[in-house]
Amino acid sequence: EMYTIVDKNTCIACGACGVSAPDLFDYDEEGLAEGILDCNQGTCNVPAPLQEDLQDAFEECPSDSIKVAEEAFHGDPKTFE
Ligand code: F3S
Repeated sequence: EMYTIVDKNTCIACGACGVSAPDLFDYDEEGLAEGILDCNQGTCNVPAPLQEDLQDAFEECPSDSIKVAEEAFHGDPKTFE
């Protein structure tokens, strides 16, 4: 299983994640990214066909704000830090 969540405290609104993974990330009114699947709670298992896009977004985020884990985050990007 694979879960993702954006840490909005470190996101600098660069916009790369929504290009790499348009089905996974969108932006709020301030341009900060958020997960589409689960309202950025990190609780929805990312479907297999989207996991490669997620990997790209994870690698390209300049502020390391895309968090990825094999377990759910339950709303807190720092769950596994
Ligand atoms: Fe923010 Fe990183 Fe996306 S800076 S807009 S989470 S690529």
